[in-house]
Amino acid sequence: MLGRLNHVAIAVPDLAAAIAVYRDTLGAKVSAPQALPEHGVTVVFVDVGNTKIELLEPLGEGSTIAGFVAKNPAGAMHHVCYEVDNIIAARDRLVAAGARVLGDGKPKTGAHGKPVLFLHPKDFLGTLVELEQV
Ligand code: CO
Repeated sequence: MLGRLNHVAIAVPDLAAAIAVYRDTLGAKVSAPQALPEHGVTVVFVDVGNTKIELLEPLGEGSTIAGFVAKNPAGAMHHVCYEVDNIIAARDRLVAAGARVLGDGKPKTGAHGKPVLFLHPKDFLGTLVELEQV
């Protein structure tokens, strides 16, 4: 069921400053910022060859990551994203195994224009897991 690691996400309070760290200090290729109001975040992706790093900044009132960033003002790892072939089949299998899907349990469109779901960190070793159908 589980496919490749699509990205590791780091939530930050200041996206421009985070971009500067990856682009200027680390010399990485960083995408243009993309606002995702449905997810309450603005994101960029850093291409590191074998996978990507997603940098997330809170967007709008009541952003889902606002509390996380308030608790981690220096930024912190937020989630890992794995690829799946069929997100509905994957969800149904995980729910049948007792895992909790965040939100209403229906896939939303993610940053790559593909369906995504988030799984409760308490069910996955303390790590928020995103599934993306590829
Ligand atoms: Co993500």
